[in-house]
Amino acid sequence: MEIVVTLDQMRFWHESWRRVGKTVALVPTMGALHAGHLALVAKAAEIADKVVVSIFVNPLQFGPSEDFSRYPRDLTLDLEKLAHLGKADLIFNPSVEVMYPGGTSLTTVVVGEMSQVLCGRSRPTHFAGVTTVVTKLLHIVQPDVAVFGQKDAQQLAIIRQMVHDLNFPVKVVGVATVREPSGLALSSRNRYLSPEEKEKASYLYQGLKAAETLFQRGERRAEVLVAWVKNTLAEADLSAEYVECVDFESLRPVEIIERPVTLALAAYVGTARLIDNITLDPGH
Ligand code: PAF
Repeated sequence: MEIVVTLDQMRFWHESWRRVGKTVALVPTMGALHAGHLALVAKAAEIADKVVVSIFVNPLQFGPSEDFSRYPRDLTLDLEKLAHLGKADLIFNPSVEVMYPGGTSLTTVVVGEMSQVLCGRSRPTHFAGVTTVVTKLLHIVQPDVAVFGQKDAQQLAIIRQMVHDLNFPVKVVGVATVREPSGLALSSRNRYLSPEEKEKASYLYQGLKAAETLFQRGERRAEVLVAWVKNTLAEADLSAEYVECVDFESLRPVEIIERPVTLALAAYVGTARLIDNITLDPGH
């Protein structure tokens, strides 16, 4: 497993792989790796010859009052986990100065209205930060495939839209959310939770599952499913920032479910802002 930190080193590897006809998959991460990230890396190794994992805590996607400075960073442990998994060929771990010489990027990539809904309402600059850094990573690494978690459903839908709109020559692959036995979706931010908060946080998924059960019994009215989730959260004394049912691809609000939708929520548990979602597909 090679570790590279500059653009030239990255280019060297991608050109040498290209010359011998190898396909490349990129797994972009911000480090603090958990089993969810490792599932992305394992998927990448299934679908491409070479796997690049980028580890970069991207300042551009954090708001002024968000957790950029306290976001967990442990490169040594991340490298150990990746080495143990044995499926990554190269780790790209640039500094902020390498990614943003002079401290910022005058050019940003913004996927219009999709970036302003759901999490975008309380984090208005977040997705522009994500799409800008993902654009840069795709240009630097030039992978054939890029792999993202379904846990960040809005991020994934926005990146798919960007790749489609701007004709990026890359295939985007989504991987199912990895969960704890309690149902809690794995997240680097779960480490902010106390044991009691962790227990409480498992209600987020329980709420989504309760709505899924209703959906499977034939309920197609989004507002009924949303209310059901909110009721489950209320039982655990949780109040969501949002619970919404949106079109799986466009993220537009849905009233009656006739196509695949994402039922998504965000909620604070203690100081941690957690998100989760499930896909409901009337065709299945
Ligand atoms: O999902 C993440 O960890 C980040 O948003 C990403 C895609 C690595 C961009 O910084």
